[in-house]
Amino acid sequence: MSQPPRKPQNIYDDPDFFAGYSTLERFGAGWERAGERTDLLALFPKLDGLRALDLGCGAGQLAHYLAANGAAEVLGVDISERMLALARTGWAHPRVTYRREALEKAAFPPARFDLVVSSLALHYVEDYQGLVSRIAQWLAPGGVLVYSTEHPIYTACLPGDGWVLDDEGRRTGWRVDRYADEGVREEHWFVPGVRKVHRTLATLVNGLLDAGLVVERVVEPVPSEQWLQDHPLARDERRRPTFILVRARKP
Ligand SMILES: C[S@@+](CC[C@H](N)C(=O)[O-])C[C@H]1O[C@@H](n2cnc3c(N)ncnc32)[C@H](O)[C@@H]1O
Repeated sequence: MSQPPRKPQNIYDDPDFFAGYSTLERFGAGWERAGERTDLLALFPKLDGLRALDLGCGAGQLAHYLAANGAAEVLGVDISERMLALARTGWAHPRVTYRREALEKAAFPPARFDLVVSSLALHYVEDYQGLVSRIAQWLAPGGVLVYSTEHPIYTACLPGDGWVLDDEGRRTGWRVDRYADEGVREEHWFVPGVRKVHRTLATLVNGLLDAGLVVERVVEPVPSEQWLQDHPLARDERRRPTFILVRARKP
């Protein structure tokens, strides 16, 4: 019997987790150098005049980008007060509002937004189908959902378990295991017990179709050779996808 969804975890407000996360290059201004950023931005429609919602906005870089590139209004929603404090101080913009709320609780009138984006937050949400169905209602006809989330090949094994090593400790491949066992995987990421949700590729795509959205593009970015020149230690990131990016439209 399936378990009812648990209370959302607010791990980004855990001081030890936050201290570790803050060391990542993609945090703060480093977001501009994040490996998947170019692919994500390429999925956006023309932003001029759009009413946009950023789900799991974190420190606000993407919400700020949307407003700075023409969106008429942007609402950034996040569960973490620490992340929102950074957004309000570091990535404020006259057309951006930040609101503290769990994605599981967020509610808006029908057709409220022309664009809904979410960068690397959906793998924290247990009820994916429920959320994308609500997003579909919030979108105006012709509106677009663009999201990135951790790839099912990456979430099937905990990141620390994924690499298969030979006797000398060299990486020989990436293990995919328990692929069909969807649900929460607790991972040690700066602190123990960080909850992320594994879903299959079919669940991700069919969830959008079942919500009445038209899937327009799916991208599995890996670092380019050019990007790797500046990040040589990340070469193994070409061996399997870490993220999956999707654009879907409300007809
Ligand atoms: C990996 S960060 C991504 C932040 C930002 N979107 C970016 O791309 O830099 C994930 C964000 O999702 C937020 N988050 C996780 N679970 C959430 C939930 N259930 N409701 C709202 N926000 C959530 C976290 O607080 C965090 O700010």
